[in-house]
Amino acid sequence: MKQLPSALEFSHQLFTERVKSGDTVVDCTVGNGHDTLFLANLVGPQGTIYGFDIQASAIKNTRRLLANNHVNLENVYLYNLSHSLVDEILPYETTIAGAIFNLGYLPGGDKTIVTYSETTIKAIQGCLSRLCKNGIVVLVIYYGHPGGEKEKKDVLEFGKHLDQKRYNVLTYKFINQQHWPPFVMVIQRID
Ligand SMILES: C[S@@+](CC[C@H](N)C(=O)[O-])C[C@H]1O[C@@H](n2cnc3c(N)ncnc32)[C@H](O)[C@@H]1O
Repeated sequence: MKQLPSALEFSHQLFTERVKSGDTVVDCTVGNGHDTLFLANLVGPQGTIYGFDIQASAIKNTRRLLANNHVNLENVYLYNLSHSLVDEILPYETTIAGAIFNLGYLPGGDKTIVTYSETTIKAIQGCLSRLCKNGIVVLVIYYGHPGGEKEKKDVLEFGKHLDQKRYNVLTYKFINQQHWPPFVMVIQRID
């Protein structure tokens, strides 16, 4: 029998089970590009990806990673901008099947460049406004860094107050792990 998936594995499983070839998806924290590559393989050459990161090096490295993995870059739009601009950047009337966030800092990068609740919550709202029915916004929440606890608290508070008639909101967390185990919050639009 298999072990339970890690937070990261669970976040990908949610997409694998729902997102299909040709869909449009958003990676709100591109970083080293691992999620962008994962999403590119899911949506395929007919799909479209929008990605955001405030670090120019993240965008550059991700373009390289995608090219090295023979991803057709024609429908991949990567922006060196804050994810808080997602609703402004996505073309008018574009709807998305899902969006992913990895909160915190970039592993192997500058640990002082982190996500913050104000911009994260604005980005979640932007993604929700574009989400198709049954689409998902998935956040993998790392919070062991300075400021991480505040972002975690604010994001959970935001999720808790979403109208249950419009959204399913759940968390996936190992409650017996020490220190600051990453956990997942998922928002699914149900109306
Ligand atoms: C945990 S890392 C992402 C890891 C990435 N998903 C991967 O697969 O490698 C978080 C990323 O969020 C980025 N970030 C921080 N604030 C941001 C913002 N307001 N908008 C977009 N990206 C942001 C950081 O630059 C960093 O690269």
